[in-house]
Amino acid sequence: MPERKEIIIKDDAYSLAGTGADLVVSAALESVQQTGRFTLAVSGGSTPRAMHRSLGRKPCLSQIPWPGVHIFWVDERCVPGYDPASNYGRARHDFLNRIPVKEDQIHPMPVDLPPEEGAEKYQDEISSIFKIGGHDFPDFDLIFLGLGLDGHVASLFPGQKVLAEKEKWVAAVKGGDPDVSRLTLTLPVLNEAHRIVFLVSGKDKAPAVKTVLEGDEENLPAQMIQPRTGRLIWLLDREAASMLSWTTQTG
Ligand code: 6PG
Repeated sequence: MPERKEIIIKDDAYSLAGTGADLVVSAALESVQQTGRFTLAVSGGSTPRAMHRSLGRKPCLSQIPWPGVHIFWVDERCVPGYDPASNYGRARHDFLNRIPVKEDQIHPMPVDLPPEEGAEKYQDEISSIFKIGGHDFPDFDLIFLGLGLDGHVASLFPGQKVLAEKEKWVAAVKGGDPDVSRLTLTLPVLNEAHRIVFLVSGKDKAPAVKTVLEGDEENLPAQMIQPRTGRLIWLLDREAASMLSWTTQTG
């Protein structure tokens, strides 16, 4: 499969967030024009928060065709929305309360059920929006992923059996920091996306970025992100890209 990897390096976290928000605007306008809707899946953690805040402010606020937007999560910790560890809770605070969408356009993962049930329920919710049976995989228009220090993405952690999941769209797992039960989209769903953007910032992520992009082994979850037909964009700030060789940086 041809390497369809694009690497964009920004000076700092502020311009990284702005470029990420611009990618949402352009993908949303293109998707809504082509299909009448824009399906976005966001990650949790701290990196995407500045970008999320940009989505809830001008100019993004007036550029995105909100009536066609559906927002999903890549993963969620099974904690209440008011818990600081809740990805949905943080997104609600950072931008969901500011964007002009109806509640049925926002699709938080169901954390109030036993995790296995929650995973099945979320697959049903995704299916109701994508209107496809269980045998295909939903093709999100844009998925944002973070990168863990250990090379994890979403809640897909190294060595976990969920990495071999070939049928389920959503899985119940446990691990990470905080080490709690989680729901996560699976690799077949992530790799079905039209656009996947890794958003990575900070010096502490430089070793993981180098290992994932230049390492010999291919066993880290982040290295298993290989979109079947979509675009793969690594959006890095200089610190996160600081250990990459020049050839990788220049593509
Ligand atoms: C989660 C995230 C997770 C995150 C990475 C990076 O729920 O924890 O989805 O995959 O993207 O751990 O997190 P930071 O952005 O906080 O470094």
